[in-house]
Amino acid sequence: MKEQLQALEKEALQKVEEAISLKELQDVRVAYLGKKGPITEVLRGMGKLSKEERPVIGELANKVRGQIADAIDSKKADIEAEELEKQLAEETIDVTLPGRPVPTGGPHLLTSIVEEIEDLFIGMGFEVREGPEVETDYYNFEALNLPKGHPARDMQDSFYITEDILLRTHTSPVQARTMNMIQGERPVKMICPGKVYRRDTDDATHSHQFTQIEGLYVDKNVRMSDLKGVLDRFAKQMFGEERQIRLRPSFFPFTEPSVEMDISCKMCNGEGCSVCKKTGWIEILGAGLVHARVLEMAGYDPKVYSGFAFGMGPERIAMLKYGVDDIRHFYTNDIRFLKQYHQA
Ligand code: PHE
Repeated sequence: MKEQLQALEKEALQKVEEAISLKELQDVRVAYLGKKGPITEVLRGMGKLSKEERPVIGELANKVRGQIADAIDSKKADIEAEELEKQLAEETIDVTLPGRPVPTGGPHLLTSIVEEIEDLFIGMGFEVREGPEVETDYYNFEALNLPKGHPARDMQDSFYITEDILLRTHTSPVQARTMNMIQGERPVKMICPGKVYRRDTDDATHSHQFTQIEGLYVDKNVRMSDLKGVLDRFAKQMFGEERQIRLRPSFFPFTEPSVEMDISCKMCNGEGCSVCKKTGWIEILGAGLVHARVLEMAGYDPKVYSGFAFGMGPERIAMLKYGVDDIRHFYTNDIRFLKQYHQA
């Protein structure tokens, strides 16, 4: 019987050792220590033993039982620890893994270019001002030396709302409004970005709605050379330090003298190519010294104050800078077009 118990112990411990799950371990417990198990069986047969043998075998059986139970308990603790370890390993978060990308939008190319131009002029001491898109005839035309019936009004075919109210055809009325507000009491140095409207047939280079940025600097002793210096800085910063500028005589009712500014063609460096139509120069903006009548109407004494003004179209600037070949790309908002200009 002793050998039988010892063999059982060996066998049970072996099974405990081999168990790899709590379920298997429980099976071993039931098989060896359960009511129908072999040890209980041995103990049940003790009645047949002699008086001397009985306590010896009894003690041995209890010892074997205890040992198997201990082995099961310790194995159970091992398996539980192992399972916890495994679970922790599975649930570990690797903080070094790259995150899932979140799709983001970005500024429209036109917004970016307007902001770039604004920053550039803010850097030269200009403040940014805005005004209404639905404007009075007075600020859009008359205050800018374009009285009713003036032939130059034809340069800017307009959308009228009433006889006297229209969608502004340029951002110059913001300058007239600002000067009018200051009434000649101090200098003004401002730019005004915004949407403007003209009765035009849309094509690759025309749009009935587009953007303008105009600048105005009125102070004592403002001269043509100041205008040239500011525009030269603008052209070089926007299109590269190697760009040259050229001023050509022109006409605007609100400036005298008036000029148009060209920059040397970036594509051919002035040699002449299809982009600059073989001239080596590309027209960028209109400008001039503020007409004495415009200053006067806004309350400035033209004998004391003088000023310059300029106006440009950010669409045109962006088209030249980024090689966009159709102005309509800015408004049709094809995401494939817009995406090309997003800085990540
Ligand atoms: N307002 C003019 C236009 O829209 C541009 C301009 C502004 C020209 C200022 C000269 C001076 O055509």
